[in-house]
Amino acid sequence: MMQQNLETKYAKISYKAPSNIAFVKYWGKRDRQIPMNPSLSMTLSECYSEISISFRKESSLYNIKKFEFEGKENTLFKERFEKYLNSIVDLLPWLKNYSLEIKSQNSFPHSTGIASSASSFAALGLCLEHFDSHLNGRDINLRKASELARLGSGSASRSIFGPFVSWGEDSHVAHSSNSYASMVKNISSKFNNLQDSILIVSSKEKEVGSSAGHALMHGHLFNEVRYIQACDNLKNLVIAMNAGDIEGFGSILESEALTLHALMMTSDPSYLLLEGNSLFILDEVRKFRKQTKIPVYFTIDAGPNIHLIYPGEYRNQVNTFIDQNLKKYCENGKVIHDHVGAGAELIEVLYE
Ligand code: PMV
Repeated sequence: MMQQNLETKYAKISYKAPSNIAFVKYWGKRDRQIPMNPSLSMTLSECYSEISISFRKESSLYNIKKFEFEGKENTLFKERFEKYLNSIVDLLPWLKNYSLEIKSQNSFPHSTGIASSASSFAALGLCLEHFDSHLNGRDINLRKASELARLGSGSASRSIFGPFVSWGEDSHVAHSSNSYASMVKNISSKFNNLQDSILIVSSKEKEVGSSAGHALMHGHLFNEVRYIQACDNLKNLVIAMNAGDIEGFGSILESEALTLHALMMTSDPSYLLLEGNSLFILDEVRKFRKQTKIPVYFTIDAGPNIHLIYPGEYRNQVNTFIDQNLKKYCENGKVIHDHVGAGAELIEVLYE
């Protein structure tokens, strides 16, 4: 039995957590950040957040003393994270006795349209769970970290683990849970070096954020069939990935991406996040695949940017294709090349 450390006066804990891209999309939530359908994602490598928290014991009520984002105080983020901490104080009662100083930075520029909520809440959840395990004299529990991350941003629950991760109860996935994410096992080596080239069509702030989008799934005409479709897609995606069936994988990937946007377009009120250039890219990708037989597929997050997913062995051909045919559709020609990754990492722990 490890010893409890409830009197720790000062601690500093830092984690690095990557972003992830969903293959089967989580869309719609209920209750306390419970997903309406199970999802599955690939963890990235190059797009990550680093969060460092200093915990100092105080006699008064807890708070965030300071929030620094990329070296500068940021009151907007401070408020967002304070709201989050308020919402989890029932799970981490010691928050009432500590003040926190948080430093956060991303490896990718803030204005690329890549959401940093998954990576930052994953890193934050890990820092909090690490400290909780220290105070309570137990080993760190990554499921608990994933649960804390989920309460900040649903997709963040998946960024704790890698390379392929699912979240949400589903009878086809072992140990699946609505509370935390888990690794998907027995994936064929054909997916070992999967690439994600992110084509930045626009970095503008989205008109409808994902919280509002999730909310529009309540009472959505397609709500029930979407649930059935997501479960089917998840099951078939796992079968395809176990068998190394890249074509089967790709067709589910594209159908999921288009479904996500179809759900937005058929919401009430309806909205549209894809831009003209997003559609030109989709068309070019399908033509290129047909002509060359190179297995490059698209997926799309809740925004206009397009993710190209393909095995690493085709990197040169796909990069030439991007340079010659797709960069012209990107804002200032911007493309971010990333690839599959192993999940979050501890950077530093210090106790006084
Ligand atoms: O985690 P949130 O609340 O930002 O929602 C993310 C939803 C999608 O990115 C569109 C899909 C997903 O599963 O990541």
